[in-house]
Amino acid sequence: MVREKWGTKLGFMLAAMGSAVGLGNIWRFSFVAGNNGGGAFLLLYLAFVILLGVPLLLAEVSIGRKAESDVVGSFKKLAPNTPWYLTGFFGIASSFLILSFYAVVAGWAIFYFWNYLNGSYFTSPEVGYEGAFGQFISHSWHPIAWTALFMILTIVIVLSGVKKGIEAANKIFMPLLALILIGLAFFSLSLDGASEGVKFLFQPDWTALSDPSIYIAALGQAFFSLSLGMGAMLTYGSYLRKENKLPSAALGIGIMDTFFAVISGLVIFPAVFAFGIDPSSGPPLVFITLPSIFEQMPMGGIVGLVFFFALILASLSSSVSILEVPTAYFMRILGWTRFATSVVMGAIMFVMGIGVSLGFGIWSGVTPIGDLNILDSMDYIASNILLPLGGLSMALLIGWYFSKSEALEATDFTGSSIGQIWYYLVKFVAPVMILLIFLNKLGVI
Ligand code: PHE
Ligand code: NA
Repeated sequence: MVREKWGTKLGFMLAAMGSAVGLGNIWRFSFVAGNNGGGAFLLLYLAFVILLGVPLLLAEVSIGRKAESDVVGSFKKLAPNTPWYLTGFFGIASSFLILSFYAVVAGWAIFYFWNYLNGSYFTSPEVGYEGAFGQFISHSWHPIAWTALFMILTIVIVLSGVKKGIEAANKIFMPLLALILIGLAFFSLSLDGASEGVKFLFQPDWTALSDPSIYIAALGQAFFSLSLGMGAMLTYGSYLRKENKLPSAALGIGIMDTFFAVISGLVIFPAVFAFGIDPSSGPPLVFITLPSIFEQMPMGGIVGLVFFFALILASLSSSVSILEVPTAYFMRILGWTRFATSVVMGAIMFVMGIGVSLGFGIWSGVTPIGDLNILDSMDYIASNILLPLGGLSMALLIGWYFSKSEALEATDFTGSSIGQIWYYLVKFVAPVMILLIFLNKLGVI
């Protein structure tokens, strides 16, 4: 079977940026920052994006482009007869864990879109936005129906081929989402009491740095947000043509993704403090904060409508990149069609998603890790452990298995002095930092 290729480098860029920008920037960034003290977290997160995120993103895409295979096949091809291909199975496991909760949260976003479409969220419901949200997510099957809808949309795009499916949507709706967020940030900053939120986000409380959890949270957020360590970027890289230059692409994706996260922070936190919402409300945070913002602003109903539409599309361009990982692998291994493979993988993820959704209702007492509910537990394993391990393995492949000239060539860095810096970041800095963060969290150091 002939593997697909992107039409142009722009096609790849749009798809890769589409993968990066999603619920991770708005929903996940806000609650993880809120849970981890704001400013200190933001600082660590930015440091990790620069020192590890963008360099490893370049490494990951280059592995895919060089090998022209899926997340398991690429490692088998580039490092035959070594255990490196196990990275691919970690990636596939992460894709199942992540998409099954991502689809649940995206389902919530579709429900909000629906409520702006029929006008029922233009003004606060009787029980308040927080109460209404709580009732909705704890319902036995309402949220699951919206999850199903999101999963079906994701599958339809993946089965028609990633290329046709997402290039067009990303060209229009990513800029639109950026514009709305910038507008919302200005509005949010103008609210009474907004300055508390700005302080929370930009004034680090240094004592927070003594807690090992904040490092792993920032690391996990950097990986999750950049779609890193799972093989999504590797798989997208495998559809690239050799003549496309990689370093500028990786940098562009990193800047774009970080921009969306910071601007989301400027929308959410001023409003969180202005409305007296608890910044550590966890996953529901933005779903409580946003409607309160829209209610206050002129024409907020329309803004909410367009916002949730753009958010759904941003989520879709991320979810297709997640589903593409197991689809590309199992198509090759099982010899199934793209159609059958994506439907079966998506269906399994949906069934897992039912469990995630019930974790907010009848299964809310189920806490697989510590006091974390089902969503938070799956997220923790995938984002904070599996993705960084995947990134570690990719860094070791490029830094220690490849020769230096192979590594530089794979990334179009031959003869570049920035390439030297990149090489040492990937070879030493990234692996050492990831290991230190793990050991610190485990209490070993
Ligand atoms: N980066 C995406 C987001 O921020 C989520 C994602 C994670 C996509 C891992 C692919 C792989 O929403
Ligand atoms: Na992101």
